[in-house]
Amino acid sequence: MFTTSDYHHRSTFTIHHEIATFSNMKKISLTGIKPTGDLHVGNYFGAIKPALELAKEYDARYFIADYHGLNTMKDPGELNSTIRHVAAGWLASGLDPEKVIFYRQSSIPEVFELTTMLMAFTAKGLMNRAHAYKAAVQDNNERGDDADAGINMGLFTYPVLMAADIIIFDSDVVPVGRDQVQHIEMAADIAQSVNANYGQAVLKIPSAAVQENVAVIPGLDGRKMSKSYNNVIPLFAPEKVLQKTLMRMVTNSQSVEEPKDPDTSQVYQLYKLFTNADEQAALAARYRAGGMGWGEAKEELFRVVNRELTPVRERYDAIMADIPALDKILEQGAEKARPIAAATVNRFRKAAGID
Ligand code: ADP
Ligand code: TRP
Repeated sequence: MFTTSDYHHRSTFTIHHEIATFSNMKKISLTGIKPTGDLHVGNYFGAIKPALELAKEYDARYFIADYHGLNTMKDPGELNSTIRHVAAGWLASGLDPEKVIFYRQSSIPEVFELTTMLMAFTAKGLMNRAHAYKAAVQDNNERGDDADAGINMGLFTYPVLMAADIIIFDSDVVPVGRDQVQHIEMAADIAQSVNANYGQAVLKIPSAAVQENVAVIPGLDGRKMSKSYNNVIPLFAPEKVLQKTLMRMVTNSQSVEEPKDPDTSQVYQLYKLFTNADEQAALAARYRAGGMGWGEAKEELFRVVNRELTPVRERYDAIMADIPALDKILEQGAEKARPIAAATVNRFRKAAGID
C-alpha cells in the first residue's frame, strides 16, 4: 500500500493565495520516461511501479519524453523502436490507458509553445546549475576538452522542456527517482516566477514525489542501476538471458559455509524488492545460518525475479507484436491530452497579453 508518508513532497515555494481554479479538482500525477535505452529493473521499481500506484488515487498523465530522447539518440531507427519499447513497457507493467492519459510528448505541440514562453522566465544561471549539464562540463574539464564539447542546447535547456511537460498538465505531484528532484524544483521555480510577475496563479506549482524505499535501486555492481553504468537487469530479457545476467552480480569472496549478512548483500537487497516479508525473513535466516553460497543465493534471486517478470514479459511481447494498435493507444491519449494542454497555454497567453 502506498501512503503519503512514503513520499517526500518537496516544493521550493508555497502558494499563499490557494488558487480557486485548481483547488476543487482531483489531484494530478504526471511523469515521463525518455526513450533512450532498454527499460531495466531500476526504472520498473523506481519510476513505473510508484507512478502506477499513484494513478490509483490521482488523475494520472504519463508519457514518453521522445523529444528529450532526441538530445542523445541520433539514430532514427533506434529512437523509433525505443519509443515503442518504452510505451509497451508502461502498458505491460499495468498502465490502463482508459484510466491514465498516456501519450507521446511529440504529439502535444502545445508543450513546445509553453517551452518558449517559459524560456522568458528562466534565468540562464538556473540552467548553469542543473546537475546533468554540470556533470557534462565537468567531464569535459577532466578530459581537458573545451567546456562545451558535445553539449547541445537540448541538454542545456533540458529543465525548461521538462518544466513545460509538467506545468502544461497542471500537475500536482511528479513521481520520479531522486536524481530528478532538482528538475522538478526548477519547474516549481520557473512557474513561481511566472505567477510572481503577473501577480496571479497562472500556473500550478508542482512537487516531486519520491518513494524513498525504491529511490535508488542497486545494479549488478552495487552502484545505482543505470544504463550508463552497464550494470542493469533488463526488464524484458528472455529467461535465459535474465538468469545469466543475475549470475554476473558482484559479491564478496565468502565461502559457502560462512554465515552471510543479508543487510550488506546486494543480492539480498534485490531479493527484497520481489518478495513479501515472510519470504524475506526465511531467506535472511538461511544467509545467517551459513551453508548457502553466493551461487545459490543468486539462483534464489533469479527464481523470484523471473516469477514477477514473466507475466510482464509476456504482455510486453504481445503488445510489441501489434505496433499499429500500440500507436493507436498513444494517439488516443494525445487526443485527450491536447485540450488540457491548450487551456494552459491560453491561460498563460492571456496573462501575458498575447491573446
Ligand atoms: P538510467 O539511469 O538508466 O539512464 P533514466 O535516467 O532514463 O535511467 O531513468 C528513468 C526513470 O527511472 C527516472 O524516473 C529515474 O529516476 C528512474 N530510475 C532509473 N534508475 C533508477 C534506479 N537505479 N533506482 C531508482 N529509480 C531509477
Ligand atoms: N527527465 C526525466 C528523466 O530523465 C524524464 C522526463 C522528461 C520527465 N519530462 C518529464 C519526468 C516530466 C517527469 C516529468 O528520467
